[in-house]
Amino acid sequence: MGRRFPRQFVFGAATSSYQIEGAASEDGRGPSIWDTYCRTPGKVQNGDTGDVACDHYHRWPEDIALMKELSLSAYRFSLAWPRWFPTGTESAPVEAGVAFYDRLVDGLLQAGITPWVTLYHWDLPQALQDRGGWADRDTAHRFVAFADAVGQRLGDRVQHFITHNEPWCAGVLGHWLGRHAPGHRDPAEALAAVHHLLLSHGLAVPVLRQHAPAAEVGITLNLTPAYPASDSIGDALATERIDGHINRWFLDPVHGRGYPADQWAHYVEEGHLGKAEPTWLRPGDLDTMAAPIDFLGVNYYSRALGRGPEPGNHPRTIEPPPQSSKTDIGWEVAPQGLLDLLLRLQRDYGTPLVITENGAAYHTGPDEDGRVRDTARIAYYASHLDACALAIEQGVDLGGYFAWSLLDNFEWAEGYSQRFGLVYVDYATQRRVIKDSGRWYADLARTGALPETEVPG
Ligand code: FCB
Repeated sequence: MGRRFPRQFVFGAATSSYQIEGAASEDGRGPSIWDTYCRTPGKVQNGDTGDVACDHYHRWPEDIALMKELSLSAYRFSLAWPRWFPTGTESAPVEAGVAFYDRLVDGLLQAGITPWVTLYHWDLPQALQDRGGWADRDTAHRFVAFADAVGQRLGDRVQHFITHNEPWCAGVLGHWLGRHAPGHRDPAEALAAVHHLLLSHGLAVPVLRQHAPAAEVGITLNLTPAYPASDSIGDALATERIDGHINRWFLDPVHGRGYPADQWAHYVEEGHLGKAEPTWLRPGDLDTMAAPIDFLGVNYYSRALGRGPEPGNHPRTIEPPPQSSKTDIGWEVAPQGLLDLLLRLQRDYGTPLVITENGAAYHTGPDEDGRVRDTARIAYYASHLDACALAIEQGVDLGGYFAWSLLDNFEWAEGYSQRFGLVYVDYATQRRVIKDSGRWYADLARTGALPETEVPG
């Protein structure tokens, strides 16, 4: 046997509502910003939408059975806010929407699988977007009302809550780079949106605790360790800025350090923040965002390489070296980045950690005999889980790992073109097939030990 994980270590898999549920207009669900975005020509590959996705809304019992077959001890999923509050402003949640998650949570508990609930995985009610969305402070208060209802209705059974998934993506991909809903390209607006996302996190933490005092509450960040492309000073400086933009802008405020001053100065210099304090930053906000959390959720996929700015340009990330291995979505396979990241988080922040997403896109489908031999995905998982085990050996407080994803699903702007699942989904028939990687992961979840043998791939 290879490296062993501690006995209590959680092996789970993750999904999110819009990516798997389908049933887009059933039981009173209102439209979300992703429904709108998918219908905007040219935004999502192939014009794909989440209307049907994996039809999990109807097939959840079968999906729980799959989780059992995979020996998962936990399942991370998100709640569709517009199923609870179709316009985001109702005074009480829609019963049919709540009932779906009641059934799901009960089903999981019966199967001996611990539910880990993410409140916001990007499907904002469109009606709230129409009122200004995350750029508007009021959305943070609407989110708290949502969290209050969630705590009230699920807090008796759910003991693990994640307020937000990847506020960098919701804020920056959505409002700065225009690559995610709502598709804006306005850096100043993006910084306001990020602020309200982080504020809403801080406001929601105590509300969730009120209803579920023993629950563990955290936030999930997408973290990308950045490395200089060369040993030039320019590349080193660029790398600091990339780290400030993607990682520290989120890590620091959540840990009570406010926004990093160096990065703040860069945003002022780049014209994204004025010289005066922005109006969105109000007294007390930074304390609110620093609400104590029980764990930090880490989503890790790859690393970034920093290249120094040409005069007048922003620092940029460059393509990985040509000899490096990449997944089918084009992301470099970089398990060392995960080890470096975990060690750094332990050293600089010290919050208990959970990997809430890690995984790889490979197109591999069924062979003629129906089996999905996704050896490249096994190699990806093996190397990254090895990094996790090594991090634990080196003193990192890492409590669990969630594979992304349980199922092949709707990969945002990439539509259905990217397959991340441990389970293959035939979208035409909704047939599910456990991939070889799923079987490999099930063995690990059962034994808690990584196989010693060289992984195929
Ligand atoms: C993360 C998202 C998740 C999934 C993976 C591939 O950024 O949280 O929904 O799309 O990337």
